[in-house]
Order: sequence, then C-alpha cells, then structure tokens
Amino acid sequence: MGQRSLSREYQIGDLLDVRFHILTFGCQMNVADSDWLTRSLVARGWMPAAEEEAQVFVVTTCSVREKPEQKVYSLLGRLKEYADRNPEVFAAVGGCVAQQVGEEFWRRFPFVRLIFGTDGTGMVPQTLERLALDAGLRVSLLDFLDHYPEREPAGSGNVGAQAFVNIMQGCDNFCAYCIVPFTRGRQKSRTADAVVAECESLVRRGARELTLLGQNVNSYGQDRRGDGTTFAGLLHRVAAVPGLLRLKFTTSHPKDIAPEVIEAFRTLSNLSPQLHLPAQSGADSILAAMGRKYTRERYMGIVRDLRAACPHIALSTDIIVGFPGETVRDFEETLSLLEEVRFISAFSFKYSDRPGVRAEKMDFKVPEEEKARRLEVLQEVQNRITAEDLLAQVGRRALVLVEGPSRMQDGRGAFWRGRDEGGRIVNFPHSGTGLTGKMAEVVILGAKKHSLTGEMRGAAW
Ligand code: SAH
Ligand code: SF4
Ligand code: F3S
Repeated sequence: MGQRSLSREYQIGDLLDVRFHILTFGCQMNVADSDWLTRSLVARGWMPAAEEEAQVFVVTTCSVREKPEQKVYSLLGRLKEYADRNPEVFAAVGGCVAQQVGEEFWRRFPFVRLIFGTDGTGMVPQTLERLALDAGLRVSLLDFLDHYPEREPAGSGNVGAQAFVNIMQGCDNFCAYCIVPFTRGRQKSRTADAVVAECESLVRRGARELTLLGQNVNSYGQDRRGDGTTFAGLLHRVAAVPGLLRLKFTTSHPKDIAPEVIEAFRTLSNLSPQLHLPAQSGADSILAAMGRKYTRERYMGIVRDLRAACPHIALSTDIIVGFPGETVRDFEETLSLLEEVRFISAFSFKYSDRPGVRAEKMDFKVPEEEKARRLEVLQEVQNRITAEDLLAQVGRRALVLVEGPSRMQDGRGAFWRGRDEGGRIVNFPHSGTGLTGKMAEVVILGAKKHSLTGEMRGAAW
C-alpha cells in the first residue's frame, strides 16, 4: 500500500474491521494501558481477534526483572515466524522494555513497526491507523513529556464492573534495584478533576469497583504537575462518586503514606479494607541499602496505625530475597517480619540485576542457588500464613464482587468466582447466569490453599 493521506473517508472505508490482538505483560499499569487501547481501537471500528486471526499485534512489556523481559523476546520470536508467513501482519511494542531497548527492536524484529513508551500510549490508536494505511512507515513514540498526557476518552458504551484509573505516571524514588524510574520517567500527577471525571464516567457506564493506579500513589500530587490535591484528598473525592461500591488503590510506598490516608480506612465506607504495602525486606541494613527510606520499626508503626483504624484490614506485600549483601540473618529478619505482620499474601522475587540501576554495581551478590533456597523457604512460610488467614474466614459472611464463572466444579453445577472485601478469592455454586459484576453475600464454608469456598445467601445485586 502506498502513502495516502489520512482522511476520514479512508478511516471509515479502509480501516474498519482491522483485526487486532493485545498481549499484556507486567503490572496493572500495563493492564490499564491495554484496556484503554482496546476500548480506543474498538471505538475506531477495529475488532479484537484471536492470535491466529489478527493482523495487528500490540505487546505491552515489562522489564522489572530478567524473566519478564526474556518472555517478551520469546513471544516476539514466535510472532516473527507468523509475520514471515503473513506479510500483512505487523506489531507495536510498548511499555517498559520498549522504553529501555528502543529502536533496537526494529533491527531484531522487522515486523515491529511501532515502538512506544508510557507517554506515547495516547498516540498509539491513530498511529496504528497510519501504519495500517502505509506499509512503508515505522514510528517510534519514546519521548518523555514533562506533564501527564491526557488521553482521549475511549468509547462511550458500557464497561465491566471493575476498572483501573491511572492517577499518575513515573516514579522519583530510584530504589537501588529498580528499573521503573528509567522506563516510566519522572513522577507526574494527573489533575484531580481529570481523575474524578474519568471515575464518574466509568461508574455511570457500569463500573462498581475502581482501582486507582500509580507506582507510588502516596506521593500523588507532590510533584511539579500536581494541582495541590493530596492522595487522601483524592480518595475522599473519588469515594464520593455516586454508585461506586468499592475503591482500591495500588501501589503504596510506606515512606509516603500519610496519616490522613490511614484515617481514610476508618472513615470511607466504600474504601476496601485492603492495602498492598511492599516491605521488600525486614532487615534495616538491607532497607537502607535498597534506598527505601524507612526502617522496620517505622513499617511496623504504619501496620499498627492501619489496624487501629481498620481492624480487619487485609495487608499484602512484595519481598525481594537475595538483594546484594543480604546475609542469612537479614533474610531471617524478613521471615520474622512476615510472621509479625501476617500478610494475607506476599509476592516474592529473587533479586534480579537490571541494567543501569545502582544495585547492579553493588558487591556481595548472592549466588543464584542461595536466592532460590531463600525464596522457597519464604514462600513456604507465607503459604502457611495465607492458609491460616483463609481458615480464619470460615463461618464469616463475606460480600463478594463476582468476577466471572469459576473453573471449580463438584457435581453441584456451575461455580462463580469473586473477591471478598479483603481481595481473597471466593468460589461458590450458583445455577443462575449473568452473575458477573454483581455483589453477592456468601457464607464462607471452606478454605483451600489459595481461595475460599462458600454458599450464596439471598439474591445478588
Ligand atoms: N512501585 C511499586 C513496585 C513496582 S515493581 C513499589 O514501589 O512498591 C514491583 C515489585 O517488583 C517491587 O515491589 C519489587 O518487589 C520487585 N522488583 C523490582 N525490581 C526488582 C529487581 N531488580 N529484582 C527483583 N525484584 C524486583
Ligand atoms: Fe521502583 Fe521504588 Fe519506584 Fe517502586 S518506588 S517503582 S520499587 S523505584
Ligand atoms: Fe514492569 Fe514497567 Fe510495570 S517494568 S512492573 S511494566 S512499570
């Protein structure tokens, strides 16, 4: 196809029904970006399609550890074979690996014709239209902007019961192990008015649960781009959106959590009693080397304050084992932190060297086998604590937001799957249809390793 101007006629005539497939790696911010891209492309008349039927692929990537980065390369290797057989196929690669590796992708994977970073995401739909019209074109959207680039509202139809809302981009913390500040750029907050308007629109269109997203939501508004609204102030405004049943947010850096945010768990009835509060380590010397800027004592103080404000708050965390210089003693302090806090779940990772971060140059790297051993020990401890927490829920009446049909079966027919107030997975049998997105009262009758089972009482609403 030759170069053509992008008139509206061409978009309507030539560009309807382009089949696309989005593959998402990484954190919820990538999930949110992929959701927005889907809505925006559908609003333009494009059609989501299965992998083997797609002409255009969009891949949002993650480089937080080596493993997710490697996954991107093996996926692109697979897509390359498909693109070699189907010359009309092309791909766009976005997210953190794209930002890190940049135009190098073109050399390795010629079918990649668009590379975009976080700040370029808003331009992707119209750029894909240009690329679909002009086979000779390649585009890179990797520049960081100094403000939060607002995106066009994508579509006006109904949305699912659960939605994500970005409140900021980037991160200024430069924790010693972390590549995110390099791939997502400096922190910049969206204005509170823009956030609230998006929340209102989503709730009007069917959302019942909103999750506010940022790499460090507790420092929302505390940057040059902030409009003076604090994170606690934003929580109060969003919680007041009529019809919003559940409000959640992630991720929280312990050093920045304000007393007003802790207090919000007491005062805002639709703020879910759950908090993901990454600790990373239980040893002060490692926390200092990581540049986390809090001590174990301060972390425990926050936990105590949270439990005073909201006694049943479900806490979860992220842990890194085998950070450079971590001794067996340090590791044991992390284990004792898990015992002391009793998180309902923990995401745990072996430290992974990332290019250009401070920890990459640190001495006393922990050998791979030792990191694997520590991870296994830690996961065993956490699995036990998780199981004990789940068992303690038996007998309770939980309010469950149904996420969809469950894979579970036991002869009683269809099961549904949802989450309780603390985010625990609950499966329950029900013969009805269309329960997705509804709220159900479920009496918890059993606990498995990672989920609960129960029976519904009354009608879902
Ligand atoms: N912004 C969030 C976390 C972003 S990355 C926060 O500050 O908590 C998600 C998690 O990946 C981190 O909490 C950390 O536990 C882990 N992580 C980040 N870099 C890592 C690395 N180099 N090796 C292993 N785990 C890492
Ligand atoms: Fe990475 Fe630390 Fe920023 Fe989180 S706060 S994204 S761990 S640098
Ligand atoms: Fe991964 Fe980037 Fe998110 S590195 S965790 S996709 S911010």
